[in-house]
Amino acid sequence: MGNAVSEFASPMKLLGISGSLRHHSYCTAILRTLGETIAEKATLEIFDLSSIPLYNEDEEGERLPHAVLALRHALEICDGVVLASPEFNHGMPGVLKNALDWASRPAYKSPFAGKPSLVLTASPASTGGVRAQSQITDTLAAMLAHVVAIPQVVFASVHEKVAEGRMTDPDSLQYLAVAVDALANVIVLQRLARSAWPAVA
Ligand SMILES: Cc1cc2nc3c(=O)[nH]c(=O)nc-3n(C[C@H](O)[C@H](O)[C@H](O)COP(=O)(O)O)c2cc1C
Repeated sequence: MGNAVSEFASPMKLLGISGSLRHHSYCTAILRTLGETIAEKATLEIFDLSSIPLYNEDEEGERLPHAVLALRHALEICDGVVLASPEFNHGMPGVLKNALDWASRPAYKSPFAGKPSLVLTASPASTGGVRAQSQITDTLAAMLAHVVAIPQVVFASVHEKVAEGRMTDPDSLQYLAVAVDALANVIVLQRLARSAWPAVA
């Protein structure tokens, strides 16, 4: 019981991963805004993928690049992941797929295994990047991530909803809050399961 109480008392630690390296990225702006809006209850660190090299299996093990070690460590110590990505040519950007491939090892025992993960997409188009979502969730499923099961969260016409690096549209902020609540619920249930059945959870 004591353990359970302290588990629940500890603030949630979320990791944000943006599928865009662009300095003025709308996806990164969404993550930045999310981090600020949940700051009283949780932390959200945005991991910068710009130093992640192209995947090369020869570099697994002793030669693992520092940036990849840092990514895997950040994934290990977080309670949940928020992936915010654009859609590139109707699919997941290579930057994101490359990072997920690095994060996926060792297969089925990677830091993504069982990790509560929320997927968001955004686009200036009316489709909101929705066509990238199934690729992202398929890849997360291949890594045994615990993808939050909610209808796709998309931010269409995102250029009208972000200003000066922050999401400003009230309806979108509400939508974001509902989505992150769904992620928080998965994390709470996982903490409950771990404290109730430590051997199996
Ligand atoms: C190579 C490339 C491909 C793109 N393909 C699509 C696409 O298929 N669908 C879409 O809605 N937007 C597409 N876009 C537009 C992006 O959604 C837009 O640039 C977006 O702002 C990128 O996300 P960011 O603001 O987080 O950098 C594409 C942009 C680039 C550069």
